[in-house]
Amino acid sequence: MDNSEGASTLWGGRFTKSLAGDMLAFSTSLPVDWRLYREDIVGSQAHCRMLAKQGIIAQEEADTICAGLTAILEDIENADVVLDTGRWEDVHSAIEDLLHERVGAVAGKLHTARSRNDQVATDVRLWCREALDSLSRQLCDFQQVLLTQAEVHAATSMPGYTHLQRAQPVTFGHHLLAYVEMFARDFARSRECRARVNVLPLGAAALAGAPYPLDREFVARELGFDAVAANSMDAVSDRDFAIEVLHVCSLIMVHLSRLAAEVILWSSAEFGFVELDDAYATGSSIMPQKKNPDAAELTRGKAGRVFGDLIALLTLMEGLPLTYNRDMQEDKEALFDGVDTTAACLGIMHAVMQSLRVDVKRMVEAVQGGFTTATDLADYLVRKGLPFREAHAVVGSVVRVCLDRGCGLADISLAEYQEVCDRIGADVFDAITVEGSLAARDIPGGTAPKQVRAAIATARARLEQDRSALA
Ligand code: ARG
Repeated sequence: MDNSEGASTLWGGRFTKSLAGDMLAFSTSLPVDWRLYREDIVGSQAHCRMLAKQGIIAQEEADTICAGLTAILEDIENADVVLDTGRWEDVHSAIEDLLHERVGAVAGKLHTARSRNDQVATDVRLWCREALDSLSRQLCDFQQVLLTQAEVHAATSMPGYTHLQRAQPVTFGHHLLAYVEMFARDFARSRECRARVNVLPLGAAALAGAPYPLDREFVARELGFDAVAANSMDAVSDRDFAIEVLHVCSLIMVHLSRLAAEVILWSSAEFGFVELDDAYATGSSIMPQKKNPDAAELTRGKAGRVFGDLIALLTLMEGLPLTYNRDMQEDKEALFDGVDTTAACLGIMHAVMQSLRVDVKRMVEAVQGGFTTATDLADYLVRKGLPFREAHAVVGSVVRVCLDRGCGLADISLAEYQEVCDRIGADVFDAITVEGSLAARDIPGGTAPKQVRAAIATARARLEQDRSALA
């Protein structure tokens, strides 16, 4: 048959026509999966070395193939290869075709005991492993930035909020440490995910395994995999690992978007707690006074995009009969987009938080208003022997009086306090200061500046340990 026109396919024997141009255009994944060229080449070389070691192909043949693949890799990295979507269906067929051009017929031996089904799964797992390592490094660097800011502001008071209403005093350092905890969990999740990613599919071939004495453990070692996939059918049809990567990304985006939303609020004139560096803010084309927190807004917006990628992949895999189905080619666009987007957001929020200017005065002003120490007054009454519920009611009536007069808790005279409750003494005024409120929360995990400093030290030690696990 004539397969000389149109696509250069990896099949032909049973076909009487070559692939139609529009069918190739429809089915090619090359523009998306081309970025897997390195993983594809490295995976092929490991497979090839194993074939020779097991006597399945000759050593000289393997050497020729491996050298050809190395030369192709260099060509690609020197931009000497033109992507031809009118010729190649995917990165695997492109590289095999380039290998044929370079080393001739011996190239045909590379695909012995292998299918694109276990090949693509291997490539994507290698890519995910690298992506997770890179995200993990970014997560460490980001925590470092947050810890540096937290240390500067370990004792900077600000209102903590519930329902976006001023609730109780906290320190800005304590607030930032909440995010450090989130990103530390994201780090742990990315490492747990990596363990499930790092399993070798090669050897599964199309779906049933291969009738050759393959040394799968050897290939796994060569490629840095921790284990070989236990079931050939699962090996070629599993994309759980990619879904898990997007799940890791999605939670990172949940956390980044919450921080972004706070930065957006805090940088408004109404809050005035922070100011973004000019390099990470934008202006308005019409309103000359504007300084907009676009970096944070885009991060918040991109969270939805990453969740969409996760849902796309879940929906893609749901209901697919075993084993490989071409549907699965659609996995890469969502996977790459989700990881790229998360990495970009981590990078920009890193820069935003590193260059953020904090208006300590505005934070302190905000915490002085809004009765943020009302709970402390109730706790004071508890120490004087009142049941908490009764104390709550007493303080509620004091707040009511303050609201009517337009004053704060500290502006009520001792005589008036004693009218409300005769157990109140002159020491009440110490109990309702912001500093007193903060210092009183002197338990592990609490916002007392002393505890915040201890928490920073603990988080730093954990970060060092996490970093050393990456090396
Ligand atoms: N481009 C395909 C993918 O990404 C590679 C595997 C193709 N296998 C096949 N039998 N058509 O899923």
